[in-house]
Amino acid sequence: MNTDALKKMAAEAALRYIQPGMVVGVGTGSTTNFFIEALGAAKIHVDGYVASSIATENRLKAQGLNVLELNATGDIPVYIDGADEADPHFRLIKGGGGALTREKIVASAARLFVCIADDSKDRPMLGKFPLPVEVIPFARSFVARQLVKIGGSPTLRSGITTDNGNVILDVTGLDFSDPLRMEETINAIPGVLDNGIFAHRRADVMLFGSAGGVIERK
Ligand code: A5P
Repeated sequence: MNTDALKKMAAEAALRYIQPGMVVGVGTGSTTNFFIEALGAAKIHVDGYVASSIATENRLKAQGLNVLELNATGDIPVYIDGADEADPHFRLIKGGGGALTREKIVASAARLFVCIADDSKDRPMLGKFPLPVEVIPFARSFVARQLVKIGGSPTLRSGITTDNGNVILDVTGLDFSDPLRMEETINAIPGVLDNGIFAHRRADVMLFGSAGGVIERK
């Protein structure tokens, strides 16, 4: 089975968490794109969807689905999104698509975070995937130097401006033995908007597409 088939399997399994009348938060990325396609086909009468990026907003609208503003929305019972890596405690690295800040906001606003991924993202420990850090352009060099001081090797991602008008530094070499602490340490650097460690707001449910079927962990 190829990776796309595994992503699609996980994405379709997430439909079981969607009930009529709900507001649903929707993440960003290729796995989430399969989920949006599945939503379009399933025609569940939800109240609406809160998008974690402009790309997702456009995809939801292309399926004829109702997009709500986060600022005009109260309760979000469920958020569905992919990840670049997940550890056994459901802590994640996200932001391979550059949407990490809005993703973390919508995930944090939601009661339940269901993470969908192919099983190559199931890792004993975070840190193989370079950590995306969203940085205000004015502070780019300063932040890069601070990241080096904590053991990181940052690379500016070329050709991308985030939905918030910022740049992304992809950082390798960091120590992920305490992801919660690393999330806080990086976010304390002035000029960092957010980073792709989801340890404070972990997933609540993991759905992995695998050759043997969907693996659900809660
Ligand atoms: C978007 O910024 C990311 O957080 C994605 O959710 C993550 O990179 C997973 O993407 P794929 O579903 O494309 O693997």
